[in-house]
Amino acid sequence: MRQDLRQRLLSSNQGGILPHWDKLSPHEQSSVERQLEAIDLEYLANLFAKRTIPFALPDIEKITAVPVLHSTTNFTEAKKEGINALAKGEVAILMVAGGQGSRLGTLQPKGTWPITPITQKSLFQLHSEKVLTLSKKANRDIPFLIMTSPATHDQTVTFFTSHAFFGLKKEQVIFFTQGTMPAVDLNTGAILFEEPAKVFASPDGHGGTLTALKKAGLLEQLKSQGIKHLFFFQVDNPLVQIADPIFIGHHISHRSQLSSKVILKDSPTDKLGNFIQVNGRCQIIEYSDLPLELANRKKHDGSLFIDTGNPAIHLFDIDFLNLVCSNCDALPFHLARKKVSHVDANLNKVVPEKENAWKFERFIFDIFPLAERWLLVSTKREEEFAPLKNAQGDDSPETAKLAQCKLFIQWLEKAGVKTPAYSTTPEIEICPSFAMDAAELSQKLPNNFQVKFPLLLQDNPKEF
Ligand code: UD1
Repeated sequence: MRQDLRQRLLSSNQGGILPHWDKLSPHEQSSVERQLEAIDLEYLANLFAKRTIPFALPDIEKITAVPVLHSTTNFTEAKKEGINALAKGEVAILMVAGGQGSRLGTLQPKGTWPITPITQKSLFQLHSEKVLTLSKKANRDIPFLIMTSPATHDQTVTFFTSHAFFGLKKEQVIFFTQGTMPAVDLNTGAILFEEPAKVFASPDGHGGTLTALKKAGLLEQLKSQGIKHLFFFQVDNPLVQIADPIFIGHHISHRSQLSSKVILKDSPTDKLGNFIQVNGRCQIIEYSDLPLELANRKKHDGSLFIDTGNPAIHLFDIDFLNLVCSNCDALPFHLARKKVSHVDANLNKVVPEKENAWKFERFIFDIFPLAERWLLVSTKREEEFAPLKNAQGDDSPETAKLAQCKLFIQWLEKAGVKTPAYSTTPEIEICPSFAMDAAELSQKLPNNFQVKFPLLLQDNPKEF
């Protein structure tokens, strides 16, 4: 091993690789050198040293509830404004899809998971069809940015390519890759190796979006194309109303630098980020950083003190993003205890039964307090949030499909269509090309439309 690297490893207590260095082939050795060179060892040691210090939370006395705009407020004007911005080409869409889906237990990117109730379209296809429908309405190809990570990039690009980009223009879809952080041993801080010649590196969190956008030069590119607003969502939410014109309209009319949708929390420990206000600025405390005492705190009327949850649907002003990105490397890392399979000092594979490692992630919402003008808009969980996180139980494929069926039935009812009686929620799917909401469905259906379950409503279906 190169002498300077060996020295740096030894002085930062990371010499674990040295005893078996000679067992690696020359090719493996140079690969490991490259991987280790890319790690800021001093910075990593510093993060590990501070591992027991809880994430700095604001003074409880300074926390106040956030003001939330009801989405139906002035919604006709807001919708007009949003549609106008989309038609003028001022909006781009960003989907984050770099996570490893470890809770779901899949080796494929989460976006490839079949999610729609009848046609079993993947999350990637469903989101792409929404972008395509919006593009047709706006009469322009709305840029669709997809953030991958080294763990998901190749499979994601192959999936899109082999499915003809689900009807989108190839040039409209822009892939970019987020960075990674090594995982370290829970007790010693030693960098873990996934294989003898491969550092265990995981995506650097949602906050990695900012560094990745900056590195790829995408913010300048979008700005030069006249884009003013960037709509952000997570790949794992099939109900998301992508680039919802009403949301965009509110964001524009409030001259907001940062807007987010907000849902009511189900319980104190709901696995959602928590919106709070401190000194007039908006902030999110992640569920993993929220102390139980604060989570359980009640108002005088018995309701939760912090009841505003984060469905991870945001809208950023491009100039604001440009401004904060100039210093996004300063965003803090949050630490999480995780189970990480790795090789031990004898190069034997270890599959831990309990948490054995620290992983480091940046959170995109740590930039929120930098926004002077911000806006939170309410939305309903049943209308816009049914994430796919786990293989079974809560937030699973089963619950995500059921939530879609329930929403579509709600749309039919709002459209004044009678549905036959049912005991368990029937199968129903309304494709984005047919209708994106209840109002569109109402316009599309003939007067005496008869519902028979299972019901599939789609326009000119194409095989991809
Ligand atoms: C995230 C939010 C949480 C919110 C919840 C809603 C953050 C830090 N947390 O938490 O506040 O209430 O979603 O569902 O924003 N992803 C990446 N790169 C990464 C990590 C994740 O692209 O480094 C993508 C994944 O592909 C995934 C999605 O983001 O589909 C959500 O990630 P996950 O780790 O499941 O987030 P949560 O912990 O649920």
